[in-house]
Amino acid sequence: MSEAIEIIVATNNKGKLAEIKAILTDFPFRVLGLADIGFDEDIEENGETFLENSLIKARTIAAMTGKYVLADDSGLEVAYLGGKPGVYSARFAGEKATDEENNAKLLRDLHGVPREKRRAAFRCVMSLASPGKRWVASVGRCPGEITFEPRGSFGFGYDPIFFVPKLGKTMAEIPLEVKNRISHRARALERMKTLVEDFVSSPE
Ligand code: IMP
Repeated sequence: MSEAIEIIVATNNKGKLAEIKAILTDFPFRVLGLADIGFDEDIEENGETFLENSLIKARTIAAMTGKYVLADDSGLEVAYLGGKPGVYSARFAGEKATDEENNAKLLRDLHGVPREKRRAAFRCVMSLASPGKRWVASVGRCPGEITFEPRGSFGFGYDPIFFVPKLGKTMAEIPLEVKNRISHRARALERMKTLVEDFVSSPE
């Protein structure tokens, strides 16, 4: 029997790893996190787009480990702010900002903006890089709007101020298993699922 192909997920976030493992469960791959391969270097994400940042991570680690690497990059885009915070989502209120500080800054920036102008979307780009130089990417989007105050305690990041109209709740008010069905990451991963088998069986 041939050995299962290994795919490294370029994350130390256990939640993301579990989510990705669950979605790739139908495939004969061994899905590993960075911790599983003892990789703990910091990779600078200095790209200007989600695609650039996810590719930087996937290609750098694929070249260093000689394995297939799946990396994602995601963030929040607010229409009224011209797509900000975008790739700066994690550090919107400053380099070491907490989720609460980022949320507070966003609510301040939208002060006085009426509901109909508070449209936003979470976006995720997922890249898969080969040990050679090939790569493929997929995109997932989850539309919603920014609330006037935080609500709910599940999730992380902007979840408490991101309202999902079709559920009538903020992302922080819905259980993780529901979020994992509708999230930008889940959607990008579902699309990646349709590409992955062909990608790993193609020649370099
Ligand atoms: P990353 O993809 O983990 O680098 O995400 C960058 C930043 O985007 C996070 O620090 C959060 O601020 C925001 N973000 C990404 N995905 C989510 C999500 O599912 N909920 C809330 N915030 C998110």
